[in-house]
Amino acid sequence: MKFTILTIFPEMFAPLQESILKRAQEAGLIKIEILNFRDYAESKHKNVDDVPYGGGRGMVLKPEPIFRAVRSLEKTAGRRKTILLSPQGRVFDQKAATRLTNYDELVFLCGHYEGFDERIRTLVDEEISLGDFVLTGGELAAMVVIDSVARLIPGVLGKEESSVHDSHSQGFLEYPQYTRPPEFEGMPVPEILLSGHHAKIKEWRRKESLRRTFLRRPDLWAKAVFELGDYQVLEELVQEHPEIALFREKWEHLKPQPKRIRKKTSFNSLEDRKNTC
Ligand SMILES: C[S@@+](CC[C@H](N)C(=O)[O-])C[C@H]1O[C@@H](n2cnc3c(N)ncnc32)[C@H](O)[C@@H]1O
Repeated sequence: MKFTILTIFPEMFAPLQESILKRAQEAGLIKIEILNFRDYAESKHKNVDDVPYGGGRGMVLKPEPIFRAVRSLEKTAGRRKTILLSPQGRVFDQKAATRLTNYDELVFLCGHYEGFDERIRTLVDEEISLGDFVLTGGELAAMVVIDSVARLIPGVLGKEESSVHDSHSQGFLEYPQYTRPPEFEGMPVPEILLSGHHAKIKEWRRKESLRRTFLRRPDLWAKAVFELGDYQVLEELVQEHPEIALFREKWEHLKPQPKRIRKKTSFNSLEDRKNTC
């Protein structure tokens, strides 16, 4: 997968050359290309911004250099999406990160200063916001999006760093994690994790993941879809947090049904069978 970044501050992207993303580039799993759209400015002083029409504060990015930079991108046979980082875009989340892995190339336009000329929006397939706050530029936002998409590409995370149980990957927060030592400053690791009993550990993790989501993120809890094996765990949680019972209708259909015992009919002879029929 290729990530192409259009910015006037290419040096800001140094963090993409560290750690897991560095390894992924070395392994040829992802490619990151950074274009300075100042190089596409035609004026003598390579101006990329100007004062806003109608007056007002700050400087606005001009359309010409960005249009030229986007049009200079090589034609690709693969699926390409052009993304504008903007506080006016749709708020980014794990679902969006997963959806973006379906593209062969993502092109990021990073705004700066007071913003960009409105006509730049015509180049764009999607606008992404990191949240309801304002950054000085789109560079940090582009890095966040690239990092979260790249780690979902098969092979980018090593086996030991799988993303399957991460918070948000299945609509819940991740369970608490512990490592050595088994006791630190009077805080012990839950005994079950030291037991080596894999089925019980799995059940404990699921329970803690559900508990955390209920206690910390009522918005995620409201959208939660539970799995077949969750019934028992949820009923245990109701004992510990009675308010969870208010949501029982969300998992009642998962109640295990008592197994129906079929009466065994045995026929001693063909004659018996005929008589029964
Ligand atoms: C200072 S901001 C401009 C904000 C603009 N005046 C507005 O109110 O919509 C400069 C640039 O930072 C980036 N930016 C700021 N906040 C962001 C956010 N929450 N998510 C993504 N990008 C953001 C955008 O690229 C934006 O063009």
